[in-house]
Amino acid sequence: MINGMDWGMASRMERLIPGGKAFFLAGDHGYFLGPTRKLENPGKTLAPLAEYADAIFVTRGVLRASIAPDIGTPIILRISGGTSVIGNLEDESITVTVEEALRLGVDSVGISVFVGSGYEHQTLMNLANAISEFEKYGIPVMAVTAVGKELEKRDSRYLALASRVAAELGARVVKTYYCEDFDKITESCPVPVVIAGGPKTDDDLEVLDFVYDGMSKGAVGVNLGRNIWQHEHPVAMAKALRAVIHDDAKPTEAIEIVREAQAKA
Ligand code: 5RP
Repeated sequence: MINGMDWGMASRMERLIPGGKAFFLAGDHGYFLGPTRKLENPGKTLAPLAEYADAIFVTRGVLRASIAPDIGTPIILRISGGTSVIGNLEDESITVTVEEALRLGVDSVGISVFVGSGYEHQTLMNLANAISEFEKYGIPVMAVTAVGKELEKRDSRYLALASRVAAELGARVVKTYYCEDFDKITESCPVPVVIAGGPKTDDDLEVLDFVYDGMSKGAVGVNLGRNIWQHEHPVAMAKALRAVIHDDAKPTEAIEIVREAQAKA
């Protein structure tokens, strides 16, 4: 046993969070948003960014159709869904069996929970039941503390509760939103926490700042999508984020990578 984990689990966790830091590239948005801007062709969007990420978060449809099997970057497979943005986002089920995840050879799976919603019990049991299955095969489950359309829920009191509940059910990693007092979440969550993104902002420094601040308050890294691939220079943004996450760069240093790309364009 390594840190209380069997070798398979320990090895996958180390691949996902090498040296205790994690840069997950999110590309799962189509599972409820359909053809999201700049992710209309996920393969084309994600391929040039993959080398900067520690893992890519996608659905099985995108994995099969759009991700090269020799990509090399670990895969986190989204296995909750069954809803769309024009329906009830919270009414999720598990969409992929453990056998299929094993056949696809993924390193981890991700599941949303909607704590405090009318689907709290259903989505928490989605998580708990999946953990019981995936743990048998040493596959870590990442919980996503989702808020659906209720974006105002994103404060430290709510997110600490949702993150802790997910960890208590056995999630190996928790993905939650950045907020003020982020340390209130990490201090009471016994497993690694990654920061989720949100809609594209016009201020690149703001993104690097919240990643830096979240990590200084205990996050191991990020699970970010739109602020990378909807950026005019996605590779530069990915490199800048990697510098903050893995190379201890300050946001004001990392932003120069983006500015250089803008100056050259
Ligand atoms: C969507 C997700 C995304 O992975 C997550 O929101 C991160 O992407 P973005 O930075 O674009 O918000 O779970 O349900």
